[in-house]
Amino acid sequence: MDRIRISGGNELHGTIPISGAKNAALPLMIASLLTSDTLTLENVPHLADVEQLLRILGNHGVDVSVNGRRESQAESYSRTINFTCRTIVDTTAPYELVSKMRASFWVIGPLLAREGKARVSLPGGCAIGTRPVDLFLDGLQALGAILEVDAGYINASAPKGGLIGAHYTFPKVSVGATHVMLMAATLARGTTVIDNAAREPEVVDLAKCLTAMGAKISGAGTRTITIEGVASLSGARHRVLPDRIETGTYAMAVAMTGGDVVLEGTQASLLENALDTLRLAGAEITETESGLRVVRNGNRIQPVDIVTEPFPGFPTDLQAQFMALMTMSSGVSHVTETIFENRFMHVQELARLGAKISLSGQMARIEGVSQLKGAPVMATDLRASVSLVIAGLAAEGETIVSRVYHLDRGFERLEEKLTRCGAIVERVSD
Ligand code: UD1
Repeated sequence: MDRIRISGGNELHGTIPISGAKNAALPLMIASLLTSDTLTLENVPHLADVEQLLRILGNHGVDVSVNGRRESQAESYSRTINFTCRTIVDTTAPYELVSKMRASFWVIGPLLAREGKARVSLPGGCAIGTRPVDLFLDGLQALGAILEVDAGYINASAPKGGLIGAHYTFPKVSVGATHVMLMAATLARGTTVIDNAAREPEVVDLAKCLTAMGAKISGAGTRTITIEGVASLSGARHRVLPDRIETGTYAMAVAMTGGDVVLEGTQASLLENALDTLRLAGAEITETESGLRVVRNGNRIQPVDIVTEPFPGFPTDLQAQFMALMTMSSGVSHVTETIFENRFMHVQELARLGAKISLSGQMARIEGVSQLKGAPVMATDLRASVSLVIAGLAAEGETIVSRVYHLDRGFERLEEKLTRCGAIVERVSD
């Protein structure tokens, strides 16, 4: 199993190209199930989760063709991929495939909308909490779906004539359930209003792509999304938006090690809250023509408290990385996690590097230390694993991160991007 070896202590200087967003690419790829025409997605990141979803979509009958490994102009490694689902050949998403990635459960929306039926295994995914699917099921039922749970699968069918538009208010904000409702409602009869919808940029990106495919959607990015159902959708060409979590992660890495890095191809508007927090902590962040410039010189990082919240609040997917940064602040900070109940597994690994963190329920208290020391650590989930990498970059001596398959799910060519900026990071295979 691969591990990542880091010799810490170097500042980061240079340019890091930001990839297409994993969390946008996944629902966009799933949207290809809604049409028999070709959906072309540009800027699709090359990640283990994307490859896994390609297998799942192939199982449903999606033909995939990839246009070149690298895009010619941008220094991005992302690809352009054509998805064509002339007919859905299988409406079952089996356990062996769905258990590897939670987002694959989302196929339930398009399968139901286009074929009127779906049999989808209950999901697996990161071990960061119980992560139920009740909101998906309630939302689809509001559209008239008939659902039953059978041997670990959801059997879903639409009423005769297809799903029916409805007014539904989510009791809690869910990104995935908003994606699924949005996709399902595009082909429903009549108008659907989704209240308390997720406002994440990835929801807006999906809505944009669906609109290009002929869907009638308004309000994406606000709490209320309105969808007027249409009889069918066509193909389209759409560019996946930049990854705000990758952006924030590298910004935090620079804040932690010091240095001066341009994050190319990204936009500040995708993560204002996290950038403002980093500025309070002492990083200088400016928008440039090509993206964002992050600089930190000399001074120690200031302690800042954060609470994770749905967009536009501080993202839970940057919580572990921010905590890593706070381990070297000049005082005491607090991190409160409100989205997932078990997302503090990085705490004990950060402690191995010398961090002083105590936990009380959903809140972590971090007492900054002047220096971390390298150690062997273990990645526990996608975002936690990258927090260990950035802590390792700032630590004195050698850090070895094992179980890096978590990283490969969500960070494209991480070692290469960091190495180009002067970090000493390498992958070692056993
Ligand atoms: C997405 C992101 C993930 C991010 C999360 C929150 C993708 C592929 N993943 O995950 O990186 O951390 O948003 O920003 O885009 N919940 C329920 N019932 C449900 C569904 C969700 O109780 O039916 C709960 C979850 O357990 C969690 C909260 O709602 O506590 C938010 O989860 P949700 O927004 O659905 O996360 P995902 O879409 O799975």
